[in-house]
Amino acid sequence: MPFRVMITLLTVMAADNPFVYGEIVAAGAFADRDEDYHRLTADLRAGQKVFLISPRRYGKSSLVRRTLDALARERVLTVSVTVAGSSSYVGFLEAYAHALLSAGTPASRLRQWAADLLRSVRPELRVEASESGATAVSLSFPLVRTSRDVERLAAEVFALPGRIAAARKRPMAIALDEFQAIASFNGGSVEEALRAAVQQQRDVGYVFAGSEPSLMERMISPRRPFYKAGPVMRLQKIDAGEFAAWLDARFTKTGLRADAGLGAAIVDLADNVPYDVQRLAHETWDDVRAAGRKTVGVDDLHATLTRMMRQQGTVFEEQWQRLTLAQRGVLRALVLEQGRELLSSDVRQRHRLAGASSVQSSIAALVREDIVMRDGPRYMLTDSLYREWIARRTF
Ligand SMILES: Nc1ncnc2c1ncn2[C@@H]1O[C@H](COP(=O)(O)OP(=O)(O)OP(=O)(O)O)[C@@H](O)[C@H]1O
Ligand SMILES: [Mg+2]
Repeated sequence: MPFRVMITLLTVMAADNPFVYGEIVAAGAFADRDEDYHRLTADLRAGQKVFLISPRRYGKSSLVRRTLDALARERVLTVSVTVAGSSSYVGFLEAYAHALLSAGTPASRLRQWAADLLRSVRPELRVEASESGATAVSLSFPLVRTSRDVERLAAEVFALPGRIAAARKRPMAIALDEFQAIASFNGGSVEEALRAAVQQQRDVGYVFAGSEPSLMERMISPRRPFYKAGPVMRLQKIDAGEFAAWLDARFTKTGLRADAGLGAAIVDLADNVPYDVQRLAHETWDDVRAAGRKTVGVDDLHATLTRMMRQQGTVFEEQWQRLTLAQRGVLRALVLEQGRELLSSDVRQRHRLAGASSVQSSIAALVREDIVMRDGPRYMLTDSLYREWIARRTF
């Protein structure tokens, strides 16, 4: 065997699992979304303020990451902060200010840079040795106490991007992820202060990404500060055909020959939610590889699904027990009817459900509990594995 061929074979044999879930996926594990990606990149480059909305785990953070990475290669200063990561408004302002001031600045220059840019508030900067041994600088505003102080601080921090872009003579792109959490800080005044600041920053593109569609939609409705602030992107599912082909190709590329239709079956079982698709593909790949096999088919997929359900069994069992009887009935009907027409008398009769208003309030409770979400005209379970468990293990 020629040496080159042998090396290639070895590489294939040792290939890592090509499917990733539970974290932001890098360019290599990213499927499709080219149109969304080009649009978001162009909008941010043009300094637009974009609202990016979708149900959970559709791939917002991954899309944003890919976009910011591309912009960073064009020398745009990029900053990304997860709003939901902070437990208070001041905590958020500290994290945001820190991220803004650190963009393109070595830690040693941070103090001077902060002094140059912040006018009415003084941060406390502390040098801390991080785990890796490198020094990290933490930033806080210990003197901020009253709500007036907080407002002044917010105005300063929200104005920072404009000042940084001007001082650096570079455009900026900022991602505020899990933006829906801003509503929990102190209501409308945060939105107002942020909106007032961003609309003056021509050279700074923003993407406000959020995963509670109803909350996010309310934020951009009339009479709210972000009404008509900029383009709204409602992220859809990835094209099912393209996602399926992408899956098949990745099995093949890592040395597992996939039976025809495997990718499509995965997408279908996972309700085409990107996270669930990648989870199912990842676990199937692992099982087949552990068995030392070279081919993978729909039977393997179902074996993996059964294993995963067994492992999650107790969790699902508990989740099920916590529901009221009415909610269980509605949830089971929702699974069996693929989330359609739940209020119709036909469906209610078939599944022995109570009146339409009772069904409606059960659905509302299930949505609140994040067990069910809306997908256009139908309802679906947020976790496709739980859906399968309900279909097979409940009566
Ligand atoms: N373009 C993509 N191609 C392939 N898989 C993807 C893609 N986008 C997302 N995924 C899968 O979905 C998972 C969730 O993605 P991500 O965290 O970006 O979603 P999100 O919308 O930000 O979710 P959340 O609302 O929970 O923050 C990823 O870990 C990955 O498995
Ligand atoms: Mg996210």
